[in-house]
Amino acid sequence: MPRPDVLETLVSLAKRRGFIFQSSEIYGGTGSVWDYGPLGVELKNNVKARWWNAMVRERDDVEGLDAAILMHPKVWEASGHVSGFSDPLVDCKACKARFRADKLGDAVCPRKPSKQPGEHADCQLTEPRQFNLMFKTFIGPVEESASVVYLRPETAQGIFVNFLNVQQATRQKVPFGIAQIGKAFRNEITPGNFIFRTREFEQMEMQFFVEPGTDMEHFERWKQTRLEWHLGLGLDRDRLAFHQHTDKELAHYARAAFDINFDFGGTLGFQEIEGVHNRSDFDLRQHQEFSSKKLEYVDQANNKRYLPYVIETSVGADRVTLAILVNALREEAVEGEQEGRTVMGFHPALAPIKAGVFPLTKKDGQPEMAERLASALRKRFPVFYDEAGAIGRRYRRQDEAGTPFGITIDSDSTANDSVTIRFRDDMGQIRVATSRVAEVLGRYLEADHARADSRLVE
Ligand code: GAP
Repeated sequence: MPRPDVLETLVSLAKRRGFIFQSSEIYGGTGSVWDYGPLGVELKNNVKARWWNAMVRERDDVEGLDAAILMHPKVWEASGHVSGFSDPLVDCKACKARFRADKLGDAVCPRKPSKQPGEHADCQLTEPRQFNLMFKTFIGPVEESASVVYLRPETAQGIFVNFLNVQQATRQKVPFGIAQIGKAFRNEITPGNFIFRTREFEQMEMQFFVEPGTDMEHFERWKQTRLEWHLGLGLDRDRLAFHQHTDKELAHYARAAFDINFDFGGTLGFQEIEGVHNRSDFDLRQHQEFSSKKLEYVDQANNKRYLPYVIETSVGADRVTLAILVNALREEAVEGEQEGRTVMGFHPALAPIKAGVFPLTKKDGQPEMAERLASALRKRFPVFYDEAGAIGRRYRRQDEAGTPFGITIDSDSTANDSVTIRFRDDMGQIRVATSRVAEVLGRYLEADHARADSRLVE
């Protein structure tokens, strides 16, 4: 049975709670561009930090890079983007809408949503024409063809053109990789589904340079490594699947490619969140030819020189953040309560706020004690202090924000210097000495746990 479509619920929760807002909303919005609010930026930063740690910091065979968005225009000629990074586009002269010619079956006619473009009597579709997805701009003050530059449509090319710089600076030996996180821009014809397909997005890409002939063995290893990374984010195993590219789907540069797909539910269903590609030596060979600079790797130990093959892992930071939001959303009944609750059951390490701190009342020294505790905890974790409204409502607000722990200061707290910790996932509570709160939260975070468990307190 297909999973329910939760995108509409998510879009409204994301706005209400400050995860994600439409860009330039007060002017009517910018098409398929989104802004991350206070909770969203923390969540996405946690995703990016987790990727950077797993791909760069915890490995000695991958180096980090932060290449510029604007690159020499020849880069995009060499990569094939100027000639080939396009989608077939049709215009409707009647309603002025634009559609991807190869996706008309998925599109709706703006005049009659039950029909596809071309099916309504008024439709006047043009012949398909190729539309390049790169955003063009000009470098310097003169708007002429000699000064055209592009906003990069993928981060990968910044890595290819720096391959020898990084290798020589770090004295890495093949096999080794280069990783970076950065913005990419695509003038998509049919963006949509919230932050699933947008015109400005962030990629987390890694190019692993290997000796030709060893490429498929590295490819298999990276496929597994990357699937495990997604599982480590708390994404459900049965929502993740590999999709192997058929010969028709394979990009011109790829020898083999698998997508890691996530089930977003509803009509979107299983969709790509990451691509793992064997790009052969296509990119280095192209850049070598277009720049006339040798990009070979010299293997001194074995007296060989060659252009390495590249295994690429490419994941969208926004798309994986959407997968995390979809996976986390739960609406559940609460025993003895009429309203039920909405919970964002994030993996504790990804949660934007780790703990809410709540004085039960605004008197008897409770707010002062709670503020002291909140400011001590803030040195280690993002913490939210809240003294407004009934305690039940304050818990619910933090459930919606995905905060794994709620710390309540009550009359016992001021009497015997202890507090209760309430756990988001099972609403269980434990009491601990105030001086131990940071240590106990640290243990729960390390164990990726948001349920009451006395073993983590002893
Ligand atoms: N360097 C290879 C490359 O860019 P891709 O399959 O076009 O491959 C990789 O993109 C990942 O980037 C996708 O799996 C997706 O997560 C993300 N991505 C691509 N286009 C996107 C868009 N318009 N909006 C959001 N994320 C996008």
